[in-house]
Amino acid sequence: MSFNALIIGASSSIAQAAVTLLADNPECRRIFTVSQCPLNFSTNKVTPLLCDYSDSSIHNICKTLKPYAGSITQVLICNGILHTNGLNNQPIMPEKKLEDINTEQLIHLYHCNTVVPMLWISRLLPLLISEQAVKMAVFSARIGSISDNKTGGWYSYRASKAALNMLIQTSAIEYARRAPNVKLVAFHPGTTDTPLSKPFQRLVPKEKLFTPEFVAKRLLFVLDEAEVDQKAAYLDWNNMPINW
Ligand SMILES: NC(=O)c1ccc[n+]([C@@H]2O[C@H](COP(=O)([O-])OP(=O)(O)OC[C@H]3O[C@@H](n4cnc5c(N)ncnc54)[C@H](OP(=O)(O)O)[C@@H]3O)[C@@H](O)[C@H]2O)c1
Repeated sequence: MSFNALIIGASSSIAQAAVTLLADNPECRRIFTVSQCPLNFSTNKVTPLLCDYSDSSIHNICKTLKPYAGSITQVLICNGILHTNGLNNQPIMPEKKLEDINTEQLIHLYHCNTVVPMLWISRLLPLLISEQAVKMAVFSARIGSISDNKTGGWYSYRASKAALNMLIQTSAIEYARRAPNVKLVAFHPGTTDTPLSKPFQRLVPKEKLFTPEFVAKRLLFVLDEAEVDQKAAYLDWNNMPINW
């Protein structure tokens, strides 16, 4: 059956690889991409939309997508940051110790990694009420698992993903009532060769550093396999469940 896809945070390397795969799928009619900066794609299936992730900007995009309500059956919310060159002229790197904690970093990562995806989960609900199965992947990370936290550190990133996981779980309870055909998946891509992981790649064995293309393929497989059971799932690239 033909379907439309929506990819948010489309400048992500994994998102870009997913666009390429979906564009090659004859059943995928249209791909809406959302990003802060203009992006070029070599397929006319893509409709790129610009967004600054403010509430009003997200609202405008949902208005644009209204005619496609019920036909968007794949949603990827890829937003997430770990480090930046500068926030108020201060570079951000993951915290190694308690003395590294600062308010701006905690709030900034919570905003980008938790608030922005949650706004989308909230505002998209009316567009996703569908007769067909709808799969929504929200990019989380294994580090957001509270039960799996053995090494500590990386406070703001870890906490922003743990909070995101809780919001996904809580949303799934409400989606089960209001849009029961939607499956929410908190997805862990594994360590992937993207700008986000660049500064930390030397610690990763070569075979454990995935290409965005590999991960995008795995993600689409995981979504295909996911059962619409009115529950959120927390899954890794290998389709293995992660403890919340
Ligand atoms: N790479 C890894 O090893 C790895 C591991 C575990 C989890 N993840 C998760 O996978 C997802 C994709 O990461 P990636 O590795 O593909 O990273 P990436 O290529 O660096 O992409 C960065 C993403 O963050 C978004 N973003 C940047 N600034 C933002 C802001 N101020 N507010 C909201 N969103 C902002 C971008 O959206 P725009 O397109 O709008 O700029 C883009 O979607 C993230 O959620 C990340 O936490 C990655």
